[in-house]
Amino acid sequence: MGPRAIVRQLLAGRSREPGPPAAAWAPANLALCKYWGKRDARLNLPVTASLSISLGPLGTNTEVRAAPDARDDVSLNDRRLSPADPFCQRLSAFLDLFRPRGLGFRIATANTMPTGAGVASSASGFAALTLALNDFFGWELDRRRLSILARLGSGSACRSLYDGFVLWRTGRRPDGLDSVAVPLAARWPDLRVGLVLVTAAPKPVSSRAAMAHTVRTAVAYRAWPARAAADLRALRRAIAARDFARFGAVAESNALAMHGLLLDARPPALYWQPGTVAAIRRVWALRADGVPVYLTIDAGPNVKLLFPAAASRAIRRAFPAVQIVAPFAGLT
Ligand code: PMV
Repeated sequence: MGPRAIVRQLLAGRSREPGPPAAAWAPANLALCKYWGKRDARLNLPVTASLSISLGPLGTNTEVRAAPDARDDVSLNDRRLSPADPFCQRLSAFLDLFRPRGLGFRIATANTMPTGAGVASSASGFAALTLALNDFFGWELDRRRLSILARLGSGSACRSLYDGFVLWRTGRRPDGLDSVAVPLAARWPDLRVGLVLVTAAPKPVSSRAAMAHTVRTAVAYRAWPARAAADLRALRRAIAARDFARFGAVAESNALAMHGLLLDARPPALYWQPGTVAAIRRVWALRADGVPVYLTIDAGPNVKLLFPAAASRAIRRAFPAVQIVAPFAGLT
């Protein structure tokens, strides 16, 4: 089954008529237990469940309206993109899933994280676009169904439909209708995320390509599903108990194991730069000095820190350029 069939099923009996311009917001998210490996590449269905934290004020605002002609017109952070731009092509391919005959979309999308902040914008971008399309067409879909649609744009986008901690369920169905994101009720106001930028350069290998390559060639991938399931259970227990040391240790280990899979692939892949290794060593040195801080790294060279609010001063001293986010600020 392909994405078009899923869309047809989810939108059966719903409006397909474009309405007035619509806008929506979605937060970026950081995986604590990573999504690494697809069981279905067309539907972005994961091999394992994953757990993320949404990054509060960092995310994407997207506005959708009908374009004056049949072509899509995409602007990113107030700059109009060429239709040949890969980002534009990815959006247009996603929009094709919903496009009434002859309709072009005018999409204005803007990220609140500085470009190159080391936080992926594809998750918040596809989530905000899906929410805006829901209003634009008047689908009136619930978040569960919207998370399925957002996943078709980018897997991790399904988790950006919610604030706070979010679980993306693996699901078992071949059509993926049970592979949805759900919010966890737990709030942890004291938790902070620090963004340490190692380089703003675009990554040489997409997460999509690297994921497929590791699943195919890394011998160690065989052990990953059980490992990820155990990490997820441990993280949920640590969150329930507000056990920061346990929480941080599991998230850090999960990320390092994911990068270990990349090293085990043939040929191997390595996203880290010298600055990445330096940041890892600095985090470990801080910890040896008694500062409660752990790290996680996505498919790129930049490092994200996890720490309680009380460690903020020590973190700023060690990483003067760090950007600190309070993911639960303002959440009830
Ligand atoms: O959704 P994608 O294709 O951008 O993949 C995301 C992969 C990681 O960021 C490394 C892990 C995750 O769970 O977000």
